Amino acid sequence: MRLRRDRVIELKSPEQFARMREAGLVVARTLQVLAEAVRPGITTADLDAIAAQQIRIAGAAPSFLGYFGYPATICTSVNEEIVHGIPSENRRLAAGDIISIDCGAIVDGWHGDAAISLGVGDIDPADQALLDACRAALWQGIAAATSGNRLSDISHAVEQSVRASGNYGLIRDYTGHGIGTAMHMEPAVPNYGPPGRGPQLRAGMALAIEPMITRGSRHAAELSDGWTVVTADGSRAAHFEHTVAITPDGPWVLTDLARESALVSESAANGEPDAR
Ligand code: MF3
Ligand code: CO
Repeated sequence: MRLRRDRVIELKSPEQFARMREAGLVVARTLQVLAEAVRPGITTADLDAIAAQQIRIAGAAPSFLGYFGYPATICTSVNEEIVHGIPSENRRLAAGDIISIDCGAIVDGWHGDAAISLGVGDIDPADQALLDACRAALWQGIAAATSGNRLSDISHAVEQSVRASGNYGLIRDYTGHGIGTAMHMEPAVPNYGPPGRGPQLRAGMALAIEPMITRGSRHAAELSDGWTVVTADGSRAAHFEHTVAITPDGPWVLTDLARESALVSESAANGEPDAR
């Protein structure tokens, strides 16, 4: 993946970030409902139906459905599937599985995109460690998403975190991305690399940061369905994603429900005195 420094990165106003927050909250609430629904016996098609209903009752639109022909509302990637797994009534979750659920929604033309990975029932401690390492890497990347930093400072922070957590495969073939009036925009956000490279981060940018790691090698393959990305070695994988706004006061995690775990308050992001 080459960083395309020549391409324009969309800048958002505080008011536009507020619209993106609406979309982000729809995604966050949908993922919360889905996480509570995950249990042995449920199918990934059941999860997709729940997501479609949640997004619709929130007055938002799903962004994945129909995207380059994608046939569902969410992506459900089980065990050795890394990303872009297609929900199916034939995929019934069992205790011990792990699943990544990726969800996107649009409000007033503004996009939110996030993913979580979680266990089904009791899981192998090594799988739990995989999930924890991937979540930690995402948050280290988020912490590096500050104005004045360079894009690859995020990439480097993610990679360093993954390396510090253990001997994991770090996927390189898929990246995070800019987001705003479209789901996938400039710049690509790699999950590895040296610090200090790429465009300087500025308030008004929004990025979807999404590390993907495996218990084995970093190599991925695409199934014949044209979507599902699996590990080449069959090892299990995890994937976490947040949509992050870069504000003068730091990163604002638009797809995080918990206000206190967002690094800045909504009032600060709107240019008002910090209410913390
Ligand atoms: N959320 C995915 C990504 O992070 C996109 C899903 S692909 C789709 O970039 F086709 F399902 F939309
Ligand atoms: Co994404």
